[in-house]
Amino acid sequence: MFYDALAITHGLALDSCKALVAPRPIGWISTLGKNGVVNLAPYSFFNAVSEDPHFVMFASGGRKDSQRNAEETGEFVCSLATYDLREAMTKTSAAVGPDVDEMRLAGLTPAPSRLVKPPRVADSPVAFECRYWRTIELPGRDGAPSGHAIVLGQVVGVHIADEAIVDGKVDVTLLKPIARLGYGDYAVIDKVFTLSRPGAGDRGASQ
Ligand SMILES: Cc1cc2nc3c(=O)[nH]c(=O)nc-3n(C[C@H](O)[C@H](O)[C@H](O)COP(=O)(O)O)c2cc1C
Repeated sequence: MFYDALAITHGLALDSCKALVAPRPIGWISTLGKNGVVNLAPYSFFNAVSEDPHFVMFASGGRKDSQRNAEETGEFVCSLATYDLREAMTKTSAAVGPDVDEMRLAGLTPAPSRLVKPPRVADSPVAFECRYWRTIELPGRDGAPSGHAIVLGQVVGVHIADEAIVDGKVDVTLLKPIARLGYGDYAVIDKVFTLSRPGAGDRGASQ
């Protein structure tokens, strides 16, 4: 089938686009409100976008607390959502007021970050400490502002659980990150395969 994505002529029960761009990594974004309260929420419009230096992005459908806090305080942290933490991860997607500490609400433990003020999720084996860089507002189908926006941050610190490092490399099968598929579905990374990249040398092997 083909459909016009702006006219939304697919005729399916649900929009399939998010199910087709899958799996999407989940950035579990912690921020501090101006009131000092810890905010934590999952974002699957999330990815690494550059590596020298490292930048990550998450995209917000409306100016939610994570976007507002990152913009107002200039900092955010992305912890890794793993299979063991899946239930806590969904709990932190609840729409609660800015006065509620979502880390504690989900029974998680905050750990202090080194270079930024928002805490990371201590229960998670990986976290990126980020300095907010800028927000890119996205247009709607009519070209007017849609309220959807991409929030970009520079990674300034990386936490990795020592147990996940084997022979100098991160073993992702020990981390078991979860990723978002379409609808209510998720995937877990518990199996990997390796491909060598012709002519790319050692650097290619690491990308
Ligand atoms: C796995 C998962 C991924 C999500 N991804 C996004 C996303 O990419 N963008 C978004 O705006 N909301 C996303 N949400 C919904 C937010 O987590 C939810 O609206 C949350 O309440 C936002 O919290 P905040 O206002 O504290 O930032 C996602 C929810 C789940 C469970």
